[in-house]
Amino acid sequence: MDLRIKDVENKAFFAQFVARLAVHNLFKDSQFFLPKADYERRYGDFPRYFPGWYLFVPGKDLADGEVIHKKLCGKDLVAYRGKDGRPVIHSDRCPHMDGLFSGGLGEVRDGKLICGYHRYAFENGKPLSGPKEFRSDPKNCIPCHPVREVNGLIMFWFDPDSPEGVGEPKWELDLPDVTHLPRRAFARSIAPTHMAPLHENIVDDQHFMMLHGSDRYRSEPQAYYEKHRFRTKNTMRMKLPDKIGPIPMRREDKAIEIQMDSEFHGLGIHINTVDIEGFEAKVIHCTTPIEDEVTEWTLAVYMPERQWSWKLDTKTIMGLVYPWGMIAQTWYLHTQDRRVFFEKGVYRFYEDVPKGFEKVNMFRRWIQEELMGEPRPMGPNSRATTFVPEKKVKKRVRATKSPAAAATAN
Ligand code: FES
Ligand SMILES: [Fe+2]
Repeated sequence: MDLRIKDVENKAFFAQFVARLAVHNLFKDSQFFLPKADYERRYGDFPRYFPGWYLFVPGKDLADGEVIHKKLCGKDLVAYRGKDGRPVIHSDRCPHMDGLFSGGLGEVRDGKLICGYHRYAFENGKPLSGPKEFRSDPKNCIPCHPVREVNGLIMFWFDPDSPEGVGEPKWELDLPDVTHLPRRAFARSIAPTHMAPLHENIVDDQHFMMLHGSDRYRSEPQAYYEKHRFRTKNTMRMKLPDKIGPIPMRREDKAIEIQMDSEFHGLGIHINTVDIEGFEAKVIHCTTPIEDEVTEWTLAVYMPERQWSWKLDTKTIMGLVYPWGMIAQTWYLHTQDRRVFFEKGVYRFYEDVPKGFEKVNMFRRWIQEELMGEPRPMGPNSRATTFVPEKKVKKRVRATKSPAAAATAN
């Protein structure tokens, strides 16, 4: 066979990608292949961690009686289910003498976490055993992260500015309703980037044409009413191949229209609402920093039940290829397109972007102005984002409903 270097490179890349995927999914919490962090070189002053809701694990990965340790947001955390089945997440260190809860020695008994070292029991972080002076000392209460289990995802609040990273949620978790999309898939990867450039690559306008091969793409920024939510409405047209494997495509129109709207809730949650000619799905990209520039990236895909039709129309085909085509394409392409921003090994967050990448600039503007609370000067290629305070919207709605009420409101 006449193989060129380029083919070998592509195959080697793909093989490595599949191997990583398998390792991270089969050995759930292994740290094989974890890329080395080299934070300062890439990020400079850009904050490592942002407050927000982050995924710990999908709910099905935390059974009753199980103790899971994960390093997330630079902290060693442990999760287990309490008596009522609700997940509890806190530091992996026991306040007694710094023992580790995880690692096989600790266990959950009757919804209580038992430290493996001297077998003290804790319930929602509160010590239940040991001498009275130990139990009654408030500093032996382990601060627990606020936790919500929604859409099959165990999410926790992380606040880098508070001690232990626990803090009070600045906003309530509000994930979209997916009850009409009962088929679900969760898949995890570890990406050698900070969350911000990872998402930047996913939302960047140009990459839809360059990498996904779409021949028309349009993105419209949407007004957002809460500072942590950034939204865009996106449509693209994708050419179809003449054949998929041995099956010829018999469509007259050799292109499909895809609607792929984007909504961010902080940097830990990025929701895609997908509509491909009647096939509807939701994809939640959950990104949780492990530490520095290493991010755990879990795709949660919510789909309708598979429907069979001899017509093999787009809706049927999408039902067949989802979620696998989606997962493979997302990771394969996006592990490649990280090169767009890391060519020189630097994430130039504070700089203006070249012409044609205005949406990237808008995304950076949202991060800097709304999440970091700093002004960002308008450059020649800048576009403003559209933040409308919720109060104003309510006032306007009230005004259209009742002119008298509006007069008193003013
Ligand atoms: S270190 Fe945990 S009980 Fe002693
Ligand atoms: Fe993409």
